[in-house]
Amino acid sequence: MHRFFLLLLSLFCFASLALSWNQQQFREPENYEGSSDLVNLQYHMGPVLAYPINLYIIWYGNWNPSHQATIKDFIDSLSSAAPSPSVSDWWRTVGLYTDQTNSNITANIKLSGEFRDTYYSHGRDLRRLTMQSIIKHAALPLNYENGVYLVLTSADVQVEDFCREVCGFHYFTFPVIVGATVPYAWVGYSGTQCPGFCAYPFAWSKYSGKPPPSTGNGGNNIMKAPNGDPGVDGMISVIAHELAEVSSNPLVNAWYAGDDPSAPTEIADLCVGVYGSGAGGGFVGQVYKDSWGDHYNVNGVKGRKFLVQWVWDPVKRRCFGPNAMD
Ligand SMILES: *[C@@H]1O[C@H](CO)[C@@H](O)[C@H](O)[C@H]1NC(C)=O
Repeated sequence: MHRFFLLLLSLFCFASLALSWNQQQFREPENYEGSSDLVNLQYHMGPVLAYPINLYIIWYGNWNPSHQATIKDFIDSLSSAAPSPSVSDWWRTVGLYTDQTNSNITANIKLSGEFRDTYYSHGRDLRRLTMQSIIKHAALPLNYENGVYLVLTSADVQVEDFCREVCGFHYFTFPVIVGATVPYAWVGYSGTQCPGFCAYPFAWSKYSGKPPPSTGNGGNNIMKAPNGDPGVDGMISVIAHELAEVSSNPLVNAWYAGDDPSAPTEIADLCVGVYGSGAGGGFVGQVYKDSWGDHYNVNGVKGRKFLVQWVWDPVKRRCFGPNAMD
């Protein structure tokens, strides 16, 4: 989660710049597509989300119903059948992570409740910690057994570090604020604030100076969003990223690489910018393009298509997704 910015920046820049500050630890993303023993992902003995997940969404601010429908269809797709390669096939890599009792992360994620915070209960300029008060304020059950809370902020909401360092993050609540310790994640709608940063590769950063390298699909360098909105389609990949990480590191004491638990490199951080085979150098990898020119790598419910980043596979020891060519 914290590395999102550094990795994106390196995607844009490393072709022309020697980035000494991150080269040692991360190198180019393509290094992760090939098997790597350099990645020191470790299990730190804490729990993973092994029980069926009851997911609660808090729609903070003013949301477009069609954007909400896209996101809810993605959530439904995580544990529903769809043509291969599917979103649930993608989640299977997450399901390879286990805890001390050898229990795998669950394959069962159910949208169990929604709350619309249409009156911006905590204003339009939020601190990270404020997410916990927003969860407390929501008229939703406090499910401390298997609840996960997802706060999604609308286009007009500023969040600390949003668009500068992060596109989303996950953590757990403090009993003194919320009344229990429950895992949660936040993701912001970046469509107007910073699509080039958080909705890559459907938009590119003006700071990168040039568009992403050719997709190899006929010279159109910018990818078309499969559900028609770069902000929402970009959010889907960030939501996928955060759900993979909150499940494998819910209390920030389970699966991560690096020595610093306050800045862990987690299972999706290792694969930022990788969506298909051959990814690297700003190239997102081999993905599909439908007859309308939309780019995607997985299928979901209701004929939906999504583009989600890959996650680190602990068995293959490389980034992996169901659209892999090998
Ligand atoms: C559980 O995780 C282990 C270790 O990664 C893996 O071998 C096994 O296939 C997983 N089981 C399921 C049901 O995903």
